[in-house]
Amino acid sequence: MHAVAIVAAAGSGSRLGAAVPKALVPLGGRPLVAWAVDALLAGGVAEVVVTVPPAERAAFAAALPAEVRLVDGGASRTASVRAGLAVAGVRADVVLVHDAARPLTPPAAVARVLAALADGARAVVPVLPVVDTTVLVDDDGVVAEAVPRAALRRVQTPQGFDRATLVAAYADLDDAAELTDDAAVVRAAGVPVRTVPGDERSAKITVPHDLALAELGVGLTASEVHP
Ligand code: CTP
Ligand code: MG
Repeated sequence: MHAVAIVAAAGSGSRLGAAVPKALVPLGGRPLVAWAVDALLAGGVAEVVVTVPPAERAAFAAALPAEVRLVDGGASRTASVRAGLAVAGVRADVVLVHDAARPLTPPAAVARVLAALADGARAVVPVLPVVDTTVLVDDDGVVAEAVPRAALRRVQTPQGFDRATLVAAYADLDDAAELTDDAAVVRAAGVPVRTVPGDERSAKITVPHDLALAELGVGLTASEVHP
């Protein structure tokens, strides 16, 4: 099974507020995107395509191994993944789509997604349980009702897909559509999405606090990515 990964790294990171695009922000001395790429390769992916902010191509090339392909991203994550998918190659049986903003994903979490695809799933997402009490509020912010959380899950990346299934789902999707993940794209096309256990270390870096936490956790993943 030949697996190609698309790393969505073309965002600016406005909520993190760093001087460089979020994917280039250092964690343990290495850019977030370099961690994400290494985890994918260590987890069993054969090739990686990284979607980059067009103006930052040189900086990304300097941060990544030469065999990683770079492609200009778009104005939304959905547009960036679409651009990555266009060059992901017909050699791929399966495609994993990952966020550069999840640098400390352990290789075993990547391998679980690949295993489900090898087992015949057409779409796979890593998930974790919801641990906080979760409520719906009305327009005034007043609690309307508690949501039973037993069946709720937090969805992470990398998300895995049979390549032809993902290509067809993106082809069917309106050009202007902006969805927050890729499983939503295939679900819109009626494809069932299987779940596998995610990992707390795959947490997304969104705000400065997330980066501070990741700095504390670097050692936990580093030994598995660079044994
Ligand atoms: N992404 C992308 N292309 C975009 C927007 C986002 O490839 N046009 C990528 C980001 O680089 C990131 C991932 O999608 O790795 C998840 O998005 P998010 O965490 O929202 O990152 P940003 O959009 O960069 O951050 P913000 O929303 O705070 O500006
Ligand atoms: Mg964003």
